[in-house]
Amino acid sequence: MGQFIDHDLALTPHLEADCGCDETRECLPITCEDEDDPVCQKYGCVKFARSRPVIEVQYACDVTSVGTHCRTHPNAITSFLDASNVYGSYEVTASELRTHEGGLLSLQEDPNDEGHIHLLPNDEENRECSHNNDKFCGKGGDIRAAEQPVLTSLHTLFANQHNRIAKNLALFMVAGTTKPSSKSHGVSTRR
Ligand code: HEM
Repeated sequence: MGQFIDHDLALTPHLEADCGCDETRECLPITCEDEDDPVCQKYGCVKFARSRPVIEVQYACDVTSVGTHCRTHPNAITSFLDASNVYGSYEVTASELRTHEGGLLSLQEDPNDEGHIHLLPNDEENRECSHNNDKFCGKGGDIRAAEQPVLTSLHTLFANQHNRIAKNLALFMVAGTTKPSSKSHGVSTRR
């Protein structure tokens, strides 16, 4: 859950730096102290690319004639706890995730579960979660939705919860009341 909440608040962009074992403006390789470490044996260091900076300074803080400039990093998503990991931080993503009908999010039926569980829509730009690269990962409001299976399950749960509430709201509105009746409330607590 901590990871899910973090992915609502922060996404620090990477640099596309091709880092080696030399320290540069964008690379801070970790020196090897353990000769048995297989990464160290292979590369001679642990390669490390720094996060993309907002202000171009070399180290933590540079003192120049015009003042002190500290390296800070942008956040690529909304920093509010606003469920942007479910709905997207950008209009394009938000639109892609919706059916644009009945206030519902796009979900797909799981063929193995008689239509009870609705899975995330396919992320056609990501197959990394599939062993043979033959299946698409699930698409959520945050690009890391498929980073590991438990995280994907939380994205799936929240998207299903959205649709459950949206469907029940639609029922109440058709019934001409904003207050759920005890009967319809009973419906809302089921799958
Ligand atoms: C199986 C579990 C997890 C995996 C595989 C995982 C993986 C990752 C990866 C690959 C990154 C990017 C590192 C990079 O910049 O190169 C990352 C970043 C991060 N992770 Fe995790 N993580 C996991 C669990 C968690 C949990 C449980 C939390 C919090 C309770 C968490 C909090 C964070 C945070 C705050 C960042 C930095 C996000 C940013 O600003 O971009 N992670 N994680």
